[in-house]
Amino acid sequence: MPVSISREGVVAIVTVDNPPVNALAQPVRQALWDTVEALDADASVHSVVLICAGRTFIAGADVSEFGRPPMPPHLPDLVSRIEAATKPWIAAIHGSALGGGFEIALGCRFRVALASASIGLPEVTLGIVPGAGGTVRTPRLAGVEAAIDLVTTGKPIRAPRAKALGLVDAIYEEDLLAAAISFAENVVTRQWPASARERLLTPQPTSFWEENERAVAKRSRGEDAPLRALACIRQATESDFSSALAFEREIFLTLRGSAQATALRHVFFAERAASRPAELKGVEPRPIRQVGVIGGGTMGAGIAATLRDAGLPVVLIERDEAALQRGLANLRGIFEAAAKRGRIAADDVNERMAGVTGSTDETYLSHADMVIEAVFEDLAVKKSVFARLGEVCRPDAILATNTSYLDPQLIAAELVGPERFIGLHFFSPAQIMKLLEIVPTADTAPQAVATGFALARMLGKIPVRAGICDGFIGNRLLKTTRMQAERVLLSGGSPSQVDAAMRAFGMSMGPFEAQDLAGLDIAAFQRKAARGRGEAPFAPVAERLCALGRFGQKAGGGWYDYGTGSRQPQPSNVVADHIAAAAAEAGLAPRSWSNADIVDAIVLPMVNEGAKILEDRVALRPADIDLVEIHGYGFPRWRGGLMHWAEARGLPDVVGMLDRLAELKLAEPVCELLRCSTVTGRLPTSYLRRSS
Ligand code: 3HC
Ligand code: NAI
Repeated sequence: MPVSISREGVVAIVTVDNPPVNALAQPVRQALWDTVEALDADASVHSVVLICAGRTFIAGADVSEFGRPPMPPHLPDLVSRIEAATKPWIAAIHGSALGGGFEIALGCRFRVALASASIGLPEVTLGIVPGAGGTVRTPRLAGVEAAIDLVTTGKPIRAPRAKALGLVDAIYEEDLLAAAISFAENVVTRQWPASARERLLTPQPTSFWEENERAVAKRSRGEDAPLRALACIRQATESDFSSALAFEREIFLTLRGSAQATALRHVFFAERAASRPAELKGVEPRPIRQVGVIGGGTMGAGIAATLRDAGLPVVLIERDEAALQRGLANLRGIFEAAAKRGRIAADDVNERMAGVTGSTDETYLSHADMVIEAVFEDLAVKKSVFARLGEVCRPDAILATNTSYLDPQLIAAELVGPERFIGLHFFSPAQIMKLLEIVPTADTAPQAVATGFALARMLGKIPVRAGICDGFIGNRLLKTTRMQAERVLLSGGSPSQVDAAMRAFGMSMGPFEAQDLAGLDIAAFQRKAARGRGEAPFAPVAERLCALGRFGQKAGGGWYDYGTGSRQPQPSNVVADHIAAAAAEAGLAPRSWSNADIVDAIVLPMVNEGAKILEDRVALRPADIDLVEIHGYGFPRWRGGLMHWAEARGLPDVVGMLDRLAELKLAEPVCELLRCSTVTGRLPTSYLRRSS
């Protein structure tokens, strides 16, 4: 039974037990409804404690039901039923009370919580608005401004803050059930504050709402739900309680079936599936208690920081004393910047550094469970590092490379015990970026792969398994993005036009401004290596800019000009001249570009490359490619990621447009997998399992 009742004198204890997170699936709603009815009819019950078994209070509506028609009892009715109960209900919150879970708590007469608990209305992160009174009751208890913050950002808050806002009545450090029972026993003699339904809201002036609309629109960049949630709160201040509830419900039901909500639900489940891949079921990861990092440059310091953030002791190895001191300073700089931004407390900087042992002597790694190499991108240097690690590390230690483009198979070619070797490709800045590509070689043991995924979980990263190819999943797609962006330039587009179109599509940055920020030299180095392998990378304008030393912001110019010390991109005449010269050489016909055409010319070929990545089994599932683009490259989450976006648009349309682009010599030919997938309209969801 998902809901059970027990008694403590005059107090009834209602326990919801629906693992893993007590989501409000239909049977839970029905059982709660029946429970309210039963307890209302029981004269021996004076008050009711609503508590949950397991790791959390009710975490919300059951998101997996959202693709189906709503089934009674509907959540708003259940919340109102609890609110109308003849006995006071007390929600006893531990873990998280989110979305519908918090709305159930708002229907209770009182809310008590463990200090460690969180409450929140994260619906906008799923492309919807709260659908069971969250936008109506929250402002009545916490005030309009606090409600706007909670509802339009979707960010949960801790219990102490919730208490300060009036959303929680009492906080306890421990023994929630006993405290809640005691609260319930005394409730009859307490002074009861007005309930949410009894409170009135003062309407705000139009200028207040206009100002908030501007702020929310700016923050949500293309997402519909936050502005609709704001409209619900406005309605709650301007109409009576029941009309406000009806208004909210209607918007909830409309948004529930929207493309954005479908996309965001897809990402929600893809993220959760990513960290526990089906193919590793039953494979026990190795314990990770101490990690070594080799190289304290940009990546090594970032990786060490993210390990320390997760509480792991770190040994940082550099090639000489001066480089070690620079590496440790890099690391301290990362923590100081985090403290400055309030991400960690000022005192944490020293605590984080105290967990780092810096040395130039690799024998300090003899106890490490895992070592992550982040030295120069040079095969000979990396091979010599791993030869040394083979000597000094425990034979069962996992040895990982952070290489971006080198073949991990070659790096490990002479390693003793190659089954413990793996690629762990972090993204820059490693302490911030959530994506972690996990790249096994042919020799890597499943346990080493499982340990990579376990590490990702410890670090709060999104792991994606990638096969070996130039650039793995992410950088391989990035090459296509850049190539296509240059093709647009060669046929009449400008860098600022391309960047603006891609931002309007929802990318966090355009391809040219992103290159100026990261530096054009890294890609130039990769192209040189590719030419060495007999390939012919396509970047005619970037090559010209690199020849001029225009490596981006750090060089004072790249795709754009930058005034001294400024990060503000300015269109550059020099760049325009070089685009014109490269266009004349390429012989592509100039055309006028709309934002939609630019997006098609860049993003559709990325979809084609994504399909080739699946075809080559470099990615196992389209959803993995979605996660790589969202968490590695700022692809709009509300579009569901690259491959979901293509499916939602319609694969026949995608292929038709790609054929047209190919005819115009603006894209590569469509790959077989993508063309075949037009029949079902779906890409194969698990390519490895289907084909092996
Ligand atoms: N519905 C269905 N399944 C859910 C769920 C939900 N609301 N929340 C979590 N799950 C599932 C996950 O998919 C996962 O399943 P799996 O084990 O098969 O992969 C499992 O529960 C555990 O989830 P996590 O891995 O996320 O567990 P954590 O312990 O790391 O986190 C949590 C717990 C903080 C509660 C987190 O799961 C979470 O944030 N959940 C989503 C909460 C949410 O968005 N609620 C609002 C829903 S919309 C709503 O309520 C509408 C209402 O206003 C009408
Ligand atoms: P970096 O040049 O900033 O740092 C490399 C560090 O390695 C230097 O501090 C150097 O002193 C140290 N080092 C070199 N040889 C060593 C040795 N034998 N023993 C110990 N330390 C040694 O380089 P960066 O950018 O940190 O890159 C490191 C690796 O991470 C490369 O393989 C790179 O391809 C990869 N990478 C880089 C990304 C980036 O955006 N910079 C992103 C993802 C991966």
